[in-house]
Amino acid sequence: MTTATGRDTLVEGEFVFTAEDFRHIAHILHTHAGIALNQSKAALVYSRLAKRLRVLGLRSFRDYCALVQGVDGVDERQAMTAALTTNVTRFFREPHHFDHLRDVVMPGLAERARAGGRVRLWSAACSNGQEPYSMAMTVLSVLPEAADLDVRILATDIDPNMVAQGITGVYSEETLEAAPALLRHRWFDKAPAHGPDRLSANDTLRRLVSFKELNLIGDWPMRGKFDVIFCRNVVIYFDDATQEKVWNRFLPTMAADATLYIGHSERVSGSATARLTPSGLTTYRLAA
Ligand SMILES: C[S@@+](CC[C@H](N)C(=O)[O-])C[C@H]1O[C@@H](n2cnc3c(N)ncnc32)[C@H](O)[C@@H]1O
Repeated sequence: MTTATGRDTLVEGEFVFTAEDFRHIAHILHTHAGIALNQSKAALVYSRLAKRLRVLGLRSFRDYCALVQGVDGVDERQAMTAALTTNVTRFFREPHHFDHLRDVVMPGLAERARAGGRVRLWSAACSNGQEPYSMAMTVLSVLPEAADLDVRILATDIDPNMVAQGITGVYSEETLEAAPALLRHRWFDKAPAHGPDRLSANDTLRRLVSFKELNLIGDWPMRGKFDVIFCRNVVIYFDDATQEKVWNRFLPTMAADATLYIGHSERVSGSATARLTPSGLTTYRLAA
């Protein structure tokens, strides 16, 4: 459809949204977060960002693009990224990874921790915390005293809203039904202050997990190495070159014999494949 201003709109609605606007938004999202957007997603982009235009009192996507590209656009670039990313997650999503962590990886790490050694795990794109808390419950099922030893889980995400929810550590009973009953009863308490059906991660679980904002294609300030990395259902949104870069960036952050878990539709690609040996379904071990 051609608008009164003579510009072709990609999606019909309250605001004019042209192919050029789409290209600008896709370019910013790719530069800022590594995410590749195809024009087939135009309707989704429109519906998610139309809300931002209303909040900001803007009249067109052209004005919105000018805002996010401008020097004062830092906050809105972040809000745009949050609006366009998918945060879908679940406690114990892809449960075979947690079985592998419990049965194959944790026994050795537990022995090391009990002997005074350091153990580090990383949930790299943790969404609202269900993945790192699932990791924490798995660690505690093997090593109940983990929070009193040198065992910690770093949980990071690009989206500050997700990081804030993770820190809150409060979920509905329905959400927690995905976690094994024994574990959720042991590590989550009723939280009536947050609502009648709310459960809150208890102190032990919270002491194990630290949440931080981190962009997988930005700077990584961490210095120590990780024994376990969960990087699941995020690189799927990146283009091939960015995926390869991320796999390669993990290598120097992995301790000897570290394990990397990736999402069910993802594959390690590029030169990192030479160092990461399959060790189960979408599970890799760092080769010496
Ligand atoms: C689909 S969720 C996956 C959550 C969890 N790993 C799981 O498998 O259940 C994808 C997460 O990746 C985050 N994300 C997207 N791009 C990112 C980037 N460049 N750096 C860090 N996190 C990113 C999103 O904010 C979102 O929370």
